[in-house]
Amino acid sequence: MREVREELPRNGARICLVPTMGALHQGHLSLVDMAKRTSDLVVMSIYVNPTQFGRGEDFGKYPRTLESDARLASERGVDFIFAPADTEMYPEEHLAFVEVEKVSSILEGEFRPTHFKGVTTVVAKLFNIVEPHVAVFGQKDAQQAFIIKKMVRDLNFDVEIIVAPIVREKDGLAMSSRNVYLSPEEREKAAVLYSSLKYAESSLASGKKNLRDIRAEMTEMIAGGSGGKIDYVSFVNPASFEKVEDAGSLDEVLALLAVRFGQTRLIDNMMLKVK
Ligand code: PAF
Repeated sequence: MREVREELPRNGARICLVPTMGALHQGHLSLVDMAKRTSDLVVMSIYVNPTQFGRGEDFGKYPRTLESDARLASERGVDFIFAPADTEMYPEEHLAFVEVEKVSSILEGEFRPTHFKGVTTVVAKLFNIVEPHVAVFGQKDAQQAFIIKKMVRDLNFDVEIIVAPIVREKDGLAMSSRNVYLSPEEREKAAVLYSSLKYAESSLASGKKNLRDIRAEMTEMIAGGSGGKIDYVSFVNPASFEKVEDAGSLDEVLALLAVRFGQTRLIDNMMLKVK
């Protein structure tokens, strides 16, 4: 990759990185569309990063479909695919890590304590290897996008971060490589995540401000109706990622949730306008 990068223009042509873990779906391909709108050359990384998986998580069974990913990516206009091996990314005695404090330990970080350290480390390495001008991430992983922006700002990476909207299935379920783990019954029930977010959206649009009450209703919808096991339903100020219990004087709040259906853990979020 470094050799290829040496050949690419340093000035003029904008190079965009789309970091992925493969198992590509329409959500990833929409990141490629965004990359192509903003840049001249698109590099996609496909790497199932071991350091962002905790013990007992799905690293071993995470879908690895490099051949079909490469076909889909190049059909969509990706110029280069970087798919390194673990031994290249983490040679023996790899001891350096990148960590964004505070915001990495709430929400997803409470349930996956080492997750964001693994994400920021691999993304920093990818930025150093590919040296992109721009990188595109999905809003589906809203906390990850916030943390990466913070890393870029605090560590002076010269990379513009673009966050692309969530792509949803017909019934509203956010596209995710982990959706393939769901049984048909779980898949049907998982649509409740979107309906609960839409419920929160209409509650705030109608003038409700008490987020505790809205969360209680969402919890009832999810746990009561679908049997989903809730890790969290939470609201944050999108500017700071601080948790909020009352929409008060904010213009927008970001609702986030993580719910388990059987063995599958799904996350979703929605930006909500406050009336
Ligand atoms: O969002 C993902 O797929 C991963 O967290 C990322 C950004 C590719 C880092 O491994």
